[in-house]
Amino acid sequence: AATEKGNYRHYMQKEIFEQPTVVAQTLGSYLRRDEVSVALPQFDFDISSIKRVTIVACGTSFYAGMVAKYWFEQFARVPVDIDVASEFRYREPVLEDGGLALFISQSGETADTLAALRHCKEKGQTIAVVVNVPTSTMAREADLLLPTHAGPEIGVASTKAFTCQLAVLAALAAHMAVKKGLMSREQEHEVVTHLLEAPACLNSALDHDDDIAAMAHLIAPARDVLYLGRGQDYPLALEGALKLKEISYIHAEGYASGEMKHGPIALIDDDVPVIVLAPSGPLFEKSISNMEEVRARGGKIVLISDAKGLEEAGEGCMATIEMPRVHPLIAPLVYAIPVQLLAYHVACVKGTDVDQPRNLAKSVTVE
Ligand code: G6P
Repeated sequence: AATEKGNYRHYMQKEIFEQPTVVAQTLGSYLRRDEVSVALPQFDFDISSIKRVTIVACGTSFYAGMVAKYWFEQFARVPVDIDVASEFRYREPVLEDGGLALFISQSGETADTLAALRHCKEKGQTIAVVVNVPTSTMAREADLLLPTHAGPEIGVASTKAFTCQLAVLAALAAHMAVKKGLMSREQEHEVVTHLLEAPACLNSALDHDDDIAAMAHLIAPARDVLYLGRGQDYPLALEGALKLKEISYIHAEGYASGEMKHGPIALIDDDVPVIVLAPSGPLFEKSISNMEEVRARGGKIVLISDAKGLEEAGEGCMATIEMPRVHPLIAPLVYAIPVQLLAYHVACVKGTDVDQPRNLAKSVTVE
């Protein structure tokens, strides 16, 4: 059954490995394989007239929203505002008519996110929610319900809900672009084709589980770890750091690669491992030059990239993790795997309670 561990040691591990299946399930309800097109559930507002998207969420769901911001802007050319729910409510956000407020939540019950939803509703925003629990409060209060089909997520640290959220958000951004006349049939075909490649790519990423387990002992003794990423992979650096903090209790920070020289570079010495997420692609060279800045200061690097990227820049790294070569659109889904597995294996080395980390709750229903 969906709520049993089966052959896995932990729910979190099981949920990481379920991702190819549940992402495929989720994509299946937002994409049409026969027509190679995007297909959203019915709703009764005109998405092409949306003037602004306001994304609000907490924790890992917030990072899914950060990735989505890149997609909404790139595909649908719509301005996007994004904030964590606990800040959003108290900063007097400007919510003009014609705005779509988009809430992302695994549980659909997080108190801060729910309060932000009700605030936006009161201000006349159209409400869309991406939730994994279709019977949740947020699901009931939405104008547009976009369920993820991740199945029950038991591990406190979110994994499969995140990649399923990304799948839904990519489809939503593409749909908006199509409706606004900004995405041609050929472009839609291309985007859908890449999304449909995601489950197989997630599987190839999972094939590196043993390599990641083998190098986890290099990270486990660290007191601090830095994660660097650029563009739509920057939120993955944040998510990688969050996962490591949550379950291994190692202090970690995610940074935009280019911002490192404005502060965190002061921390670099050979006790602070730096995890660099750098798929080969348009931003690769930039990421590598940021990585060289770390190396020049004696920093120890773990480079996560594809074969081409590792060939170009892997030499001299403390460790490398190879990912399949993927289209930039699906890189955030695929690179979620190594950051989840790394946190998981480091936590196992340290012997922490992976599924029930101290002080954390699966769903935070108090403010
Ligand atoms: C808690 C969980 C996180 C989750 C966050 C948001 O902090 O431990 O894993 O990302 O809540 O939860 P939600 O259900 O709104 O996505």
